[in-house]
Amino acid sequence: MPARYTHRIRVTSDELDLVNQVRAERLKAMPQKNNKLVQSAIAISELAKPDAEQADRGAVFGMQNATSPIAGELRDDNVTELTSNRIGVISDAHWPFHDLRQDADGNFYGAYLTAIEWLRSQNVGTLLLNGDMVDCYNLSTHEKLESKREWAWELDVSRTMLKHLREFFGDKVRIVYREGNHEERLKRYLATKAKELHGTIYFDELLKMREHGIEWVHERDKIAAGKLRIDHGHEWFGGGGVNPARNYRMKAVDNVMVGHVHKTSTDLFRKPLDGSFIAGWSVGCLCDLNPRYAPRNNWNHGVALVELEEGGNFTVHNKVILQGAVR
Ligand SMILES: [Fe+2]
Ligand SMILES: [Fe+2]
Repeated sequence: MPARYTHRIRVTSDELDLVNQVRAERLKAMPQKNNKLVQSAIAISELAKPDAEQADRGAVFGMQNATSPIAGELRDDNVTELTSNRIGVISDAHWPFHDLRQDADGNFYGAYLTAIEWLRSQNVGTLLLNGDMVDCYNLSTHEKLESKREWAWELDVSRTMLKHLREFFGDKVRIVYREGNHEERLKRYLATKAKELHGTIYFDELLKMREHGIEWVHERDKIAAGKLRIDHGHEWFGGGGVNPARNYRMKAVDNVMVGHVHKTSTDLFRKPLDGSFIAGWSVGCLCDLNPRYAPRNNWNHGVALVELEEGGNFTVHNKVILQGAVR
């Protein structure tokens, strides 16, 4: 049995420098000049030198040049900027379970149509679809209590809804679609039931967003409208509560708007020492208010309009939809 050494050897920083130097020289002297792993190891060893602080942070992971063998897993902190001076925000339509009814004459109405008609009348330059627009019912892990046809049908309905939105708002309106927790069901499904297909099936491609000029903001990337941050809501640990807007505002310690909780709420906070304000908003949903999985709830329908000024200041109109009208 070989002896097992459990004690640690302490080395001084001078000795460590020497070790790194020797290792770098040995690696450089190795014959496999084209071995990417060796080149990366050299790059990392170079960083152990005293001037390492000056190096680009990405170099630590071998990302600084084309020889890097490691790529694709690092997240960049993208922020999608919404710059129109009138921005419409809707979320949580949960297609094909959006609020839609038909009167005795066969005319369609409901919160979903009310919201988009109101936003069009407000001449928005940007429409943000702020997550959970598609339910992905057939991809959920919940027990299916009722027959809701199949995923192909859900997909078909959702594609038609996106196509309709583009036609309804016209080509001049920028449409941005951010991923909510329901859209993430596709990724979760692939990861748990079809992981061999990972990296080959994408939500935005399935919905043909590019065809309709719709921008996709994936996973948990950030969205800003001037000084206002807009999230779906599931990005935060915990949420909801008596006043969801207050909950999110306290977590963000900044101006923040979310959907996700299916409830309209607002919270304005004046900082006592400098007199400045920060505020939170949660926007109501556009889905069926009494689904089988949550027949009793305190949700409400809603829609928001953000008026953005030059310099980033903004005004939020966080509206409730009641009895067919935006109020
Ligand atoms: Fe939702
Ligand atoms: Fe959600």
